[in-house]
Formats: sequence, structure tokens, C-alpha cells
Amino acid sequence: MENDIKEILITKEEIEAKVKELGETLSKEYQGKTPLMVCILKGAVLFMADLVRNMDIEVEMDFMAVSSYGKSTESSGVVRILKDLDTTVEGRDIIIVEDIIDSGLTLSYLVEMLKGRNLNSIKIVTLLDKPHRRKVDLKPDLSGFTIPDEFVVGYGLDYAEKYRNIPYIGVLKPEVYSG
Ligand code: XMP
Ligand code: MG
Repeated sequence: MENDIKEILITKEEIEAKVKELGETLSKEYQGKTPLMVCILKGAVLFMADLVRNMDIEVEMDFMAVSSYGKSTESSGVVRILKDLDTTVEGRDIIIVEDIIDSGLTLSYLVEMLKGRNLNSIKIVTLLDKPHRRKVDLKPDLSGFTIPDEFVVGYGLDYAEKYRNIPYIGVLKPEVYSG
């Protein structure tokens, strides 16, 4: 599996330090509140799990699944909700937890949809950001790392459902895509 990785972009240690920092920032920002942390499946699962363990305030967790890439590496622009929230979001402070923002199409759609549900506030925290690829005007409120326009895997991120359990963020060798 790790033979398919061309280059390590962000090490396990760098991720750990950054997630700790993000958790502490969120704990301060949401002091005295119980935010509803919404993990976008499946890529953000590892980030969410580590992030909440670095927060010392009360939080609730929920999960949403939307269609994005399928087996390709390009966004289709079509967003479909595969699993909606179990929690009623009315009056809640929502923190969307995402693995990576690329074109921004997925999240801008989601945020607009959630805003229609009468929530108190909504913020986006993403581990990775590829700002050069943006197709819509969407900025995360908190972001771990800005990365170049390369397809990355590991720490939850996949290519054709593989590599999610690699503990660092890496770039795949091009021959892996071409088969
Ligand atoms: P958009 O383009 O809507 O896409 O911002 C966000 C979703 O696309 C996936 N994505 C990636 N997944 N490596 C991945 O494994 C990448 O480099 C990558 N870029 C985008 C991801 O699921 C994200 O939620
Ligand atoms: Mg994702």
C-alpha cells in the first residue's frame, strides 16, 4: 500500500500537532456551548475522531454522507445527500468537519441547505484546503494545511476507497491512477 505513495506531504506528527491546535481553538471559541460537530463521511472520520479528543468542552457528534468523487479524482459538481443528520439542527451551533476543500462545490451546497434549517450558527473546519481549485466562493473558518493542487490520500482520504488508514497525508504515484 505505502509503495503507491510518491511523497509524504504532511507527516503523522505534523497532523497530530495541528489537530491539537485546532481542537484548542475550537474549545475556546465554543466555551460554554455544546456545538454539534458534523462529520462529512467518509474522509473526515479520522480527523473528527482526533479533533473531538482534543476538545475539552461538551460536544455532540453527527454524520452526513454526500456523493462527491466516486472513483474518479475530479468533482462531478453534482451533490447528492446519501445520509442526512439524525439530529435536529434548529437553534444549534454547527461545526462542519471536512477532510479537504477542493472546488468547494460540495460544502457550499451543504452549508446553504443547512442554513435553511434555522440553525444558530455554522462554521467550517477543514484539515486540508486546496484554494487554487475553488469554483465557488467558499472559505473555511478554520483550516489545518493549505496544500498544492495534487491528489492526496491518507488520514481518511482515499483513492477508490483505498489508503484511508495511512497515518500521514501523501501524494499517489501517477501510475496508480492510470492503472
Ligand atoms: P469539492 O470539490 O466539492 O470536493 O470541494 C470535496 C471532496 O472531494 C474529495 N477530494 C479529495 N479526496 N484526495 C481525496 O482523497 C484529494 O486530493 C481530494 N480532493 C477532493 C473529498 O472527499 C472532499 O470531501
Ligand atoms: Mg469528503
